[in-house]
Amino acid sequence: MNIDQIALQMLASGKGILAADESTGTMTKRLTAVKVPSTEENRLNFRETLFTSKTASSYISGVILYDETLRQKSSNGTPIPELLRKQNIIPGIKVDAGTKSLAGSPDELITEGLNGLRERLKEYYELGARFTKWRAVYKISSKFPSNAAIISNAHSLARYAALVQEANMVPIVEPEVLMDGNHDMQKCYEVTSSVLYECFNQLKIAKVRLEGIVLKPNMILNGSDSGIKNEAAMVAAKTLACLKNNVPEEVPGVAFLSGGQSEVEATQNLNEINKINDSKFIFTFSYGRALQQSALKKWAENIQDKENVQKVFDKRAFMNSLAATGKWDKSKEIAA
Ligand code: 13P
Repeated sequence: MNIDQIALQMLASGKGILAADESTGTMTKRLTAVKVPSTEENRLNFRETLFTSKTASSYISGVILYDETLRQKSSNGTPIPELLRKQNIIPGIKVDAGTKSLAGSPDELITEGLNGLRERLKEYYELGARFTKWRAVYKISSKFPSNAAIISNAHSLARYAALVQEANMVPIVEPEVLMDGNHDMQKCYEVTSSVLYECFNQLKIAKVRLEGIVLKPNMILNGSDSGIKNEAAMVAAKTLACLKNNVPEEVPGVAFLSGGQSEVEATQNLNEINKINDSKFIFTFSYGRALQQSALKKWAENIQDKENVQKVFDKRAFMNSLAATGKWDKSKEIAA
């Protein structure tokens, strides 16, 4: 399969991506919050429970893994990438090395990980990965994001994407404008527009094939400290307008991050976007917290009780599958 075909498979109708690529540091925070020790075995146990749920393959096209998980074997000895592939789920891998303070604007962040990336990509391909992720983050405040943050992160995303395509994999390009702050939706719209504009400028300079990427942006939301409620219809209208104005038509689709929205909010907003979608883009999910939060709580009650954890996960995956085709409504949450 070439990269364009892989991208389309990641965006297959009614399916989306599970972002289970938390670094060991982030996963430790998540497990500590539910009072489970963050051992290698426990991290695998939770993730394997999700990956083997009966309906996962009906709603999940791909899973983003962390380096540790890509190299692990399931409880019956099957390598995790193979376990996914057998269910027609594409294995992906987070390849950035996290964020550091940006020199020149030390309160902002730059994503690192380009050194040695070409060699790592070769190994990841051999281990079975067919797509990758790199996340850049941008803060909103009266001063931020600075031009330095916008340009340097876009440049890194473009260099990353070019290397990934050279290795015959699909880069998920993830510029995340954070929801933290007291700004309103209009400010988020303006910042996200500038961030996306520069990303595509740099992707073009780097000669990245846009038909062979998946964009993973934030939705357009009011800042989480603004006290303003996010109306789904407004979120959808603004998000769609922002993407139509700033994303070239060659890009096959968009898989949103959830970014701290509640599970139902993330589902409802995606559903509204699909209800009004009059663009060529496919819109689906690439959620981390919004797919895993309730399942993680259930798992923490009894980590041996796979069946009930999978029920909780399957419901969220199904709700988001409905939202990916604009067929979700609140009554489905109760019925499921
Ligand atoms: P959230 O959906 O929890 O924002 O995670 C998605 C992701 O992959 C962030 O890089």
